[in-house]
Amino acid sequence: MATNITFHPGSISPEERTTLLGQKGVTIWLTGLSASGKSTIACALEQHLLHLRKISYRLDGDNVRFGLNKDLGFDEKSRNENIRRISEVSKLFADSASIAITAFISPYRVDRAFAREIHQKASLPFVEVFVDAPLHVVEQRDPKGLYKKARAGEIKEFTGISAPYEAPENPEIHIDTSITDVAESVRIITDFLTTKGYISV
Ligand code: ADX
Repeated sequence: MATNITFHPGSISPEERTTLLGQKGVTIWLTGLSASGKSTIACALEQHLLHLRKISYRLDGDNVRFGLNKDLGFDEKSRNENIRRISEVSKLFADSASIAITAFISPYRVDRAFAREIHQKASLPFVEVFVDAPLHVVEQRDPKGLYKKARAGEIKEFTGISAPYEAPENPEIHIDTSITDVAESVRIITDFLTTKGYISV
């Protein structure tokens, strides 16, 4: 824990930044089981928003674990720390007036509540998207063969099999990817952002 540090408020207000850049910051927090479709939706959404000339950036579990969070595993404490760091990073992106799109399993409610809380405290919008698909569906998809390995006991603490996934109780958006395709998912999220006035198209 660092001591003797002082927080420097910015020289430019959030409102000025928003006006200068012509967009507001927001974090779109995708949560769901592995293979539920988070990364696919996040990629398509990022592309769509960039084509609308909105500064957007995707933070993805598999990718971030190669760098910033490469010291973390999948036990509960490590996942807490994974999500704590990403909460802070996405908040910085949103504060910069970017659209941060996070795609992490983020299985614990308490961690997602933390992410929401720090955004709220900073008056930054936070949109939780439950990327939902039944376990038998994601297990059938199994694009990385991880569910198979988890069932065989070769991967410990695998979400949905041997580690918990606490489904969101009140997400802003709930998408069942067993019946909703990627384009429709992007449309649902973009419509929400537009209706709320987080983006103007
Ligand atoms: S989180 O639980 O801490 O939010 P995160 O989204 O960063 O997880 O990483 C999940 C990805 O790591 C999965 O999509 C999968 O590819 C891989 N992975 C490896 N081991 C596990 C595990 N034990 N449980 C879940 N995902 C795992």
